[in-house]
Amino acid sequence: MSTALRDNVDWVGYVDWTVRDFHGYDTEHGTTYNAYLVRDEQTALIDTVKAPHADALLDKVAALTDLSNVRYVVCNHAEPDHAGGLSRVMAALPEATLVCDRKCATALSQHHDTSGWKTQLVATGDTLALGRRTLQFLETPMVHWPESMFTYIPEERLLFSMDAFGQHYASSQRFDDELPLAAVMEAAKAYYANIITPYGKQVAATLAKTAQLDIEMIAPAHGLIWRSHVPGVLEAYRSWAECRPVPKVLVIYDTMWDSTAQMAHAILEGASLPGVEVQLLHVRHSNLTRIATEVLDAAAVAFGSSTLNQGPMPIAAAVLTYLKGLRPVGKTGFAFGSYGWSKGGPEAVNEYLQTMKWELLRGPLKARYRPTPQVLDECRAAGKALAEKAQELAADRRTGGQLVSAP
Ligand code: FEO
Repeated sequence: MSTALRDNVDWVGYVDWTVRDFHGYDTEHGTTYNAYLVRDEQTALIDTVKAPHADALLDKVAALTDLSNVRYVVCNHAEPDHAGGLSRVMAALPEATLVCDRKCATALSQHHDTSGWKTQLVATGDTLALGRRTLQFLETPMVHWPESMFTYIPEERLLFSMDAFGQHYASSQRFDDELPLAAVMEAAKAYYANIITPYGKQVAATLAKTAQLDIEMIAPAHGLIWRSHVPGVLEAYRSWAECRPVPKVLVIYDTMWDSTAQMAHAILEGASLPGVEVQLLHVRHSNLTRIATEVLDAAAVAFGSSTLNQGPMPIAAAVLTYLKGLRPVGKTGFAFGSYGWSKGGPEAVNEYLQTMKWELLRGPLKARYRPTPQVLDECRAAGKALAEKAQELAADRRTGGQLVSAP
């Protein structure tokens, strides 16, 4: 496995092959915690790893240099998947000074006993000369936490981007051109959809600042390093930051006795127009991670639930709560579902869609107990209208129309 990004710039992270649950994110491909060692007249470690893997990182560092040669440990992000190992790492590096921004120092002091650490605070525009190379810092608040920061080496045209541009993808390969691009890009999209979506405005601001940099390689804190597809992932981030829609209709649902399922299939049938991608997602046969990933670039969503205890089905409610937190913007859609002696399921779904400020094509489409042929015809018509609206939204974006932004 090649771990060299440049001469004397090496990956020293950890491949977590077996993790399948990353605080609720379904990491079906595992993940990596990437850390990098820049050896120069002064040697710097960029980020660390999750706490249980700190010794594995130190072993990799020790294989490249004496631990006493490490003068700086840059912390770009205080979240424990990257900074959890800091206590162990700082204890093992006798000459190291922690380098981070002010908010990061505060966050780290709330996770670690930092009282004995030498710390150097940096802010956007600050630089640290290592010798032949320079570290340049760029604060990137809310991408992904308030204290987050990029570190850039202009002499190498190399950007250490922490969570941004990352993917939960365990691999023996380190670079984007060593695996099928579609797989890496899909993992990057899932990562964006499930971690970064709420911060679209901050991502757009970060991309604007990043555009000032001459970048040949992006080394994120998770997954593969971008060296052959840097323009591609930057363009993907521009698209995802505004949830740019493609002509895609999702029919997402849960069902109790098949009535809502029948409605879902009828909506899907109506939405199946030429040039429109349609997908049927049963919430109990999919997962939150997959659903959020598909929603990111879908122009339209029909969301259905049967009524249970005067509300939606529990997993449908969980999906809606998850989506509400992620706040994907600019969608169109409607709610649907069945009810019996009391209403509540489709109405609750409708409220969630309204909360997300999606454009609703109609009020809740409902069936009492069983959908009649007339209701199923109504479902087909609503599906067709949704698909036509999806085409319109996608075409509008191609021609420069504006989406509504989340607050
Ligand atoms: Fe990979 Fe926000 O931590």
